[in-house]
Amino acid sequence: MSKHSTTADINLSRSTSQPGLLPDLAIRARGLRKTYGGSKKIEALRGVDLDIPRGAIVGLLGPNGAGKSTFINILAGLVIKSAGDVRIWDFDIDQDSRRARSAIGVVPQEINIDAFFTPRELLEFQAGLYGVPPSERRTDEILKAVHLTDQADSTSRSLSGGMRRRVLVGKAMVHSPPILVLDEPTAGVDVELRQQLWDHIRELNQAGVTVVLTTHYLEEAQQLCDSIAIIHHGELVAHDSTDRLIERLDRKELTILLADDLSEMPKTLAAFNCQLHPPRRLSIHYRPSETGIEEILAAVRQANLTIADLTTEEGDLEDIFLALTRRVPSGD
Ligand SMILES: Nc1ncnc2c1ncn2[C@@H]1O[C@H](COP(=O)(O)OP(=O)(O)OP(=O)(O)O)[C@@H](O)[C@H]1O
Ligand SMILES: [Mg+2]
Repeated sequence: MSKHSTTADINLSRSTSQPGLLPDLAIRARGLRKTYGGSKKIEALRGVDLDIPRGAIVGLLGPNGAGKSTFINILAGLVIKSAGDVRIWDFDIDQDSRRARSAIGVVPQEINIDAFFTPRELLEFQAGLYGVPPSERRTDEILKAVHLTDQADSTSRSLSGGMRRRVLVGKAMVHSPPILVLDEPTAGVDVELRQQLWDHIRELNQAGVTVVLTTHYLEEAQQLCDSIAIIHHGELVAHDSTDRLIERLDRKELTILLADDLSEMPKTLAAFNCQLHPPRRLSIHYRPSETGIEEILAAVRQANLTIADLTTEEGDLEDIFLALTRRVPSGD
């Protein structure tokens, strides 16, 4: 027997504040690797270490093919890892797979519901699969939570894409898991419904559910998540609080090579975080959100300096974010 509660005791409406009973980490991955077979081997995950604290709401970001879904599908038991250890709610996914799986509800990236059943039937089947006895099922409550009460008895065929995605969210909740993992929950969902889904995810989190979601929308991650993990080419390249990460992204360095020697920092550049590396190099650290490069160049010209060459530098993170944010449709 584990020292922790099993999902049967865990209810979404109940707070997680049961000291001593609950694990500190909802998910703990160490050295997680996945190599897909076939004629061409693909290393989708290359040794990921990731801790997700209980009660957190974490965004998993990364460009297409980074390995996000592979990570999630390993948690869900849909993909078999090649190496490494994963604990879900302190249950090892190899040694205690049944309990690990029942501690987590996963909303997959692909919409894979059987269109001939109604949302109510789909939730009931899912509850049956997880062995939730009829007296403990919360079908109506979940339908209400995902705003599908009116569509509860219509065949899923007649539902819109956004509604179907909400059926998936509902399915992931039938066994009241303390951890909810959503793989692009708002892809293809319109702005209003997206907002509703965000509200709902927030409510669940406030009720104590640990949430992990993948998204391509930085804005979504910023609004919802208290921390952001970035996966790139199968590696975890950053995991930090959302505020610190955004701050880290908002930094650039401009290096100017001057045509002539300079012995003293000109006054017009004093307002900037500028260093002189004699005889001819200036480096200026700035925040693109606050200072435009044109503003800096104007100050250089005002000091009567002639620029021989200049470069700007941004870290890997920015490159990844550019790759991510480039995909976000404008005005969406
Ligand atoms: N079943 C599979 N068989 C072979 N290769 C796979 C399989 N699933 C994923 N891959 C490969 O593994 C890598 C990671 O894919 P994954 O789906 O995890 O990325 P992702 O970060 O979720 O991307 P996206 O943002 O497009 O959803 C990719 O190179 C992909 O082609
Ligand atoms: Mg994916």
